[in-house]
Amino acid sequence: MPIGTDINYAAYLLSNGELVAIPTETVYGLAANAFDKNAVAKIFETKNRPAFNPLIVHIKNIDYLPKIAKNVNEQLLYLFQKFSPGPLTILTEKKNIIPDIVTAGSNKVAIRIPRHPLTLQLLNKLNFPLAAPSANPFQYISPTSAQQVEEQLGDKIPYILDGGKCEIGLESTIIGVENNEIVIYRLGGISLEDIQNTIGKIKIKSNIKNEKKVKTPGQLSKHYSPKKPLFIGITEQLLRNNSHKKIALITFGKNKISETNKLKVYNLSEKADMKEAAANLFETLYEIDNSDAEIIIAELLPDTGLGRAINDRLIRASISKKF
Ligand code: TXA
Ligand code: MG
Repeated sequence: MPIGTDINYAAYLLSNGELVAIPTETVYGLAANAFDKNAVAKIFETKNRPAFNPLIVHIKNIDYLPKIAKNVNEQLLYLFQKFSPGPLTILTEKKNIIPDIVTAGSNKVAIRIPRHPLTLQLLNKLNFPLAAPSANPFQYISPTSAQQVEEQLGDKIPYILDGGKCEIGLESTIIGVENNEIVIYRLGGISLEDIQNTIGKIKIKSNIKNEKKVKTPGQLSKHYSPKKPLFIGITEQLLRNNSHKKIALITFGKNKISETNKLKVYNLSEKADMKEAAANLFETLYEIDNSDAEIIIAELLPDTGLGRAINDRLIRASISKKF
């Protein structure tokens, strides 16, 4: 059985240089021993991911941080302590014990402590941290259940640790330091407001419009894409222009548009709850990709809290079809 909850078996495979898909509170990860460069190379091969795109290192607790990071900025450390375990990743100077393949040659490593009990138990059994990107083929939607991992990568990996549906459903927020100031590189499970309530105003650097200029950290615009073309714009107009096609409409809050035999409505949260919407987002995109819809039309959420990260993913998914 390639899917199960056997932590000992997962630990055995990882200790022998194999890959295991692991549950986290954000999305499923494809994990390898972060200290073993040959094991890490298998991640790139399995995901079909370019080797210039670095990986997040997952550690078991705060005390482990000094083993792999040096000179962590005070504010960064404060935020890491406040939001860990949880969906916050920090980008900070690495120690030599982290092989270059993990960071794509950069002297900075991305680190987080996941909040899923199974994966924390697993990490506590290991004497190494886990390098893990999201467990999807390169540029496809991140998986939020063990079944999605199995459908996407099942024939390529020996074991999937099944931790159920991911609680948050969006990747972690990535932060770092530039000119002594905290910056956000990727919006995610911890909102801009959560961070600003702690340390005051900060900058977001994951602006999609500037993306071609921003080299680090690997924020490729072609991310998180469903296979079907996704459009964002004036919904009524998009619906009218595409009325001859089978449409999947992604919406949020009170339903204004009714379904027809050519239009199926996917409401991320009828009660307009951002948390619920985040947890449903990737699953919905995945479901639509496996349906008979020809195109996807998505309505953006209010640009606050988790809505900002959800919009970021939707916009990235739509951009990908234009290039
Ligand atoms: O929630 C998450 O963060 C999930 C779970 C599995 O932990 N992981 C995840 O990993 O989303 P991935 O590889 O899909 O996205 C990590 C992002 C990439 O955009 C990568 O370029 C960036 O983090 N990144 C990782 N290490 C970096 C580094 N050393 N320098 C710059 N960017 C880095
Ligand atoms: Mg990913």
